[in-house]
Amino acid sequence: MTSSAKVETVVKLGALVGEGPVWEESEQTLLFVDIAGQKIHRWSPATNQIQSVETSDMVGFVVPRRSGGYVAGVGRSFMAVDWSTQAMTHLLEVDEDKPNNRFNDAKVDPTGRLLAGTMGREVRPAELERQQGSLFSLDSDLRVTKHLSQVDISNGMDWSLDQRTFFYIDSLSLTVDAFDYDTTTGHLDNRRVVYRMAEEEGLPDGMTIDLEGRLWVACYNAGRVINIDPATGVRLHTVSLPAMKTTSCCFGGPDYSDLYVTSASLGLDQSERGRQVEAGNIFKVTGLGVKGRASCFFSG
Ligand code: BGC
Ligand code: CA
Repeated sequence: MTSSAKVETVVKLGALVGEGPVWEESEQTLLFVDIAGQKIHRWSPATNQIQSVETSDMVGFVVPRRSGGYVAGVGRSFMAVDWSTQAMTHLLEVDEDKPNNRFNDAKVDPTGRLLAGTMGREVRPAELERQQGSLFSLDSDLRVTKHLSQVDISNGMDWSLDQRTFFYIDSLSLTVDAFDYDTTTGHLDNRRVVYRMAEEEGLPDGMTIDLEGRLWVACYNAGRVINIDPATGVRLHTVSLPAMKTTSCCFGGPDYSDLYVTSASLGLDQSERGRQVEAGNIFKVTGLGVKGRASCFFSG
């Protein structure tokens, strides 16, 4: 644990699968989803108010859109979300040949392209038919491109500060991978492993990069976020969280020095629930001594 890091619970929502946090600078709010709870939430640290919108199916992600509102991954569909009216408009569908699939994590690249992955249906968290997922991108003209197939659980992603490397997690591979990234086309090349999870680190889930080019990876089933240097493969720090199913993280706050961490409660048995009263809550980690960068708007 970094010496001066402090962890506090900020949103006591007990989400089934809290996920996909995005800091919205203009509103100074934290946007996130409850995948299995089928809800998009927006929480304001200033007022401690939560606004929520229900989705008609599991919602894997939500990202802000340059033209206003959001784009969410609901079931296998990209949906436009108008927050003020709560209206959702269907944009496009993926994985038409795999009706049991759903969207999971997604992120907007520094040019405004949205990358979003899918996965098969879980019988239990992290147990599913393998290699059913894919990784897609959605361009500003709403054109979909498939970049990867045979993915187990498409999860965390982010880009290096020079935008030339794409970091990616397929959870069941138990690795954090890197690709060469072509910002003009979104093309991925030269896949390699940058970090292999230690036994006690569970499954790699969501992640974010800091301004030093290091990754913060939420460790599902391990109650922690690890900070790794993708250049050396070395783990620099571990932050312990009071919920085992830590799912994702993002930097936020007025100067992007707070790390927000989401968690899940789905899949815990009765006795685990009794011991993990914080499961499904959102935590804020301060004092890490590092900052993140602003999230990007989808350009479409
Ligand atoms: C998925 C969950 C999955 C977990 C662990 C999350 O991103 O949404 O369904 O169980 O990762 O791999
Ligand atoms: Ca995830």
